[in-house]
Amino acid sequence: MDIKISPAESLRGDIRLPGDKSISHRYAILASLADGATRIRNYASGADCRSTLGVFQAMGVRVEEAPGEIVIHGPGLRGLHKPECALDAGNSGSTMRMLSGVLAAQPFSSTIAGDESLSRRPMDRIMKPLGEMGARIRGRDGRYPPLEIDGRPLRPIRYASPVASAQVKTCILLAGLFAEGATTVVEPTPTRDHTEIALREFGATVEVSGRSVSVQGPARLAGGEFTVPGDISSAAFFLVAASIVPGSRLLIEGVGLNPTRAALLDFLLSAGAGIRVSNMRQAHGEPVGDLVVETARIRGGAIERDTTAALIDEIPALAVLGALSEEGLSVHDARELRVKETDRIASIVTNLRRAGVEIEEREDGFSIPGRQRFRAARYDSFGDHRIAMAFAVAALAADGESVVENADAASVSFPEFFTTLERLRA
Ligand code: S3P
Repeated sequence: MDIKISPAESLRGDIRLPGDKSISHRYAILASLADGATRIRNYASGADCRSTLGVFQAMGVRVEEAPGEIVIHGPGLRGLHKPECALDAGNSGSTMRMLSGVLAAQPFSSTIAGDESLSRRPMDRIMKPLGEMGARIRGRDGRYPPLEIDGRPLRPIRYASPVASAQVKTCILLAGLFAEGATTVVEPTPTRDHTEIALREFGATVEVSGRSVSVQGPARLAGGEFTVPGDISSAAFFLVAASIVPGSRLLIEGVGLNPTRAALLDFLLSAGAGIRVSNMRQAHGEPVGDLVVETARIRGGAIERDTTAALIDEIPALAVLGALSEEGLSVHDARELRVKETDRIASIVTNLRRAGVEIEEREDGFSIPGRQRFRAARYDSFGDHRIAMAFAVAALAADGESVVENADAASVSFPEFFTTLERLRA
């Protein structure tokens, strides 16, 4: 579906975002391995987190849905049943990578597959450590989905991961729940720590020391009650939109502000953004706060090393901001963007050029000079939710009506994105 977007005069209003995608996946996974019921409020509404629920439902987990909440009836750590057909991870790399750690430890074999985009994403990053734990996994060409997993008892390992990936860390820790003893992951740079926090909330024994995380297996997880904070990666599009559309003011309530995710805020504030944080609180170990954002002159800057890893999902939105900033934006050490839902570096470069915006592409990032303008353009989402939303934001600041092709890709993480945007400019 193509969506037409005209330039905005101003954006004003209050927003509540769908639940954080990363946290929702983790609560659904742990609830499905726990004893007893878990009630989850504000579970992410996007297709990705639905895929995680669907995979567990296919293994016999009962999920009840009511407006604004779901209840997962956990059958216990050893309570999953062999699925009758291939498990479907859809577009969700998180579902496939994290759940492989669970599937590898089951007393049955299974196959997990994904859509065309996911089928092109590398899985060797989880196959290798799981193999060291004793898992048997076969992938297409040795590294791509679908994955055929022969479940069997696993042994604990200490794994120094060569990639900074929370999905890899989570996959290994989940496998470690089933192994006898301590399973440890050492990360090259810190990544989001929602798994560590959620594991503790569900009663697992987790130790964190510097860049190393250990979980003790076999674990016994207990269900509970959780509320998922708003997704800061979804907030990113509105923070950028309100920053660049003159006369804007938005209140975004209940956003997850975990320090391993809030690098976006640090960057925006250091670049001069008009953002205020208030009402900081904790929800199940996760920091949450309200944000007010107003239009401001943005300086721009450089994103590199650990910061790149910490705001990897927000780079499409920041690329749009960079072109309109005073000094421009350069992004380094972002090779991981090449293997996301699309090659995000290539899709950012293609779309910016369609709007007449100058950008220099590198293998590990790009540089965008500042003080540029967006011409009305036809953008392609390339089937990637974050590219669809980032260029919808670019369209708000253009000199005429733009089109985002395949805009429905946004529903992977934020089905309400376009209706929310319309409401704010009304
Ligand atoms: C995620 C980790 C990141 C991120 C993805 C969600 C997670 O991926 O890009 O959107 O929930 O753990 P990597 O682990 O591949 O860096």
